[in-house]
Amino acid sequence: MPVGRVIGCDFAGTVVAHPAGPSLWKPGQRVAGFVMDGALDLTGGRVCGVPHEAAASLGVGFATAMMGLFLRLGLPEPPSALEGDDAKAAEAAEGKEQPVVLINGASTSVGLYAVQLARLAGIRVIATASPRMHALVRELGADVVLDYADADWPAQAARAAGPALRQAFDCVSEVGTARATAAALAAAADVRGGDGAERGHLLCILPRSQADLEGDVSQKVRLETTVAFSVFGRPIQHLTYDNQGGPTPRDREFWERYLRKLTGWLESGEIRPNPVRVFGGLEDVLDGFREGMEGKVRGEKLVYRVAPASV
Ligand SMILES: NC(=O)c1ccc[n+]([C@@H]2O[C@H](COP(=O)([O-])OP(=O)(O)OC[C@H]3O[C@@H](n4cnc5c(N)ncnc54)[C@H](OP(=O)(O)O)[C@@H]3O)[C@@H](O)[C@H]2O)c1
Repeated sequence: MPVGRVIGCDFAGTVVAHPAGPSLWKPGQRVAGFVMDGALDLTGGRVCGVPHEAAASLGVGFATAMMGLFLRLGLPEPPSALEGDDAKAAEAAEGKEQPVVLINGASTSVGLYAVQLARLAGIRVIATASPRMHALVRELGADVVLDYADADWPAQAARAAGPALRQAFDCVSEVGTARATAAALAAAADVRGGDGAERGHLLCILPRSQADLEGDVSQKVRLETTVAFSVFGRPIQHLTYDNQGGPTPRDREFWERYLRKLTGWLESGEIRPNPVRVFGGLEDVLDGFREGMEGKVRGEKLVYRVAPASV
């Protein structure tokens, strides 16, 4: 591949052939997922009843949402995603105070999956999105949706969530959005009493740092960053996120478990793929990026057909 080219991640398609020997895959099987470093490593799950175009939105968005909520923020998992003793422990935990999470940028690709996974886990969701996306975000499972363009939204989020708010997922993760999301966590910490042991936990999906948070908010909120590629299990070296370094077998185990569940969730409609817009073929990718940079891609994923739709 020529130097300077960047390869995309998400894909969906049909298995045509696989290497000799035992394999999870059979020719004719429909799959979706994402790749790391081109085709060097690949994870994917079986998808049925979902058009290729919609399935192509599942990979990175779903992986990041799953990892963010359950591995990094440590929120309780959907009981139906658990096996054996874990499922019993989840049942035993029923009846305890309902957990709550703040999802900033709930209408992003990652955010739409995070809202749905949080709903499946019984977590109360306080979300932000632009007003035209409020109905969708609510329909997918958010309890409260605020307008991120309102400068007062962090205070409104803290009031809506109450002092139990300890975890927030910033699905945009620009400096300004991280600060606003941290302000909501800090306000909730203040109501709790706000000592060091009770700090809020902010998860970002761009390489932010604790130094991005200002003043005493930084004392009240711990900022962590994560990148989806750790679900492949092998070390990530060329990026700057908190979850890179050595091998990540636990992330891989989580991902494989959620891929097994995803097939059923898609069939039952408990997880809906992101809205998509088919934008043409590979030759149209640059125009798609241009639309994105002009702010014309909102609440949807652009999808490119690289083979006839019947394949
Ligand atoms: N670390 C990782 O593993 C990982 C994985 C995936 C993505 N990412 C990164 O995460 C970011 C989001 O990716 P994505 O594909 O999920 O995004 P996306 O779907 O392209 O996000 C577009 C949406 O962002 C929302 N938005 C824009 N400005 C906002 C703001 N100030 N506050 C709240 N929402 C805002 C808009 O919502 P409205 O339509 O409601 O205005 C828009 O629909 C990107 O920077 C991407 O590179 C990281």
